[in-house]
Amino acid sequence: MSVTVKKFFLLFLLVQPSTSISFGPKITVVVQNGLQGGRDMLLHCESADDDLGVQLIHPNNSFQWKFQNNVFGRTLFHCSFQWESVLHKFVIYKTSRDHNTCHICNWIVKEDGPCLIFSGRTDCYNWNSLEER
Ligand SMILES: *[C@@H]1O[C@H](CO)[C@@H](O)[C@H](O)[C@H]1NC(C)=O
Repeated sequence: MSVTVKKFFLLFLLVQPSTSISFGPKITVVVQNGLQGGRDMLLHCESADDDLGVQLIHPNNSFQWKFQNNVFGRTLFHCSFQWESVLHKFVIYKTSRDHNTCHICNWIVKEDGPCLIFSGRTDCYNWNSLEER
């Protein structure tokens, strides 16, 4: 590396807003409210770098976001899904679990847990934990 390139690289590192340096392909996560009975759902997802805020999702509607894995090559988004005063918690994206299957992760949320839809399959999971509000 020439001195100039090194300088530019250092400058690049310095002007980056600290933790948001990211690599690799963009990953899209889509979360759809698939609850029965026309119920709204409150969704709150966070990673170490991003807090996506509380989202109100009407029946059959969805919320989506994009991200890249962080500089360490791993990202974990944990979410809470609230209806009827119960928080249902689930890790919606984890690099070590999902990086091979999931460049667009399509989730539909049901009462018993979220289901991942990919290549014609639907894999349903149980909630990681519940919390009364
Ligand atoms: C949501 O989708 C389901 C299945 O397609 C449908 O039966 C239901 O009426 C829809 N609910 C609303 C509120 O649009």
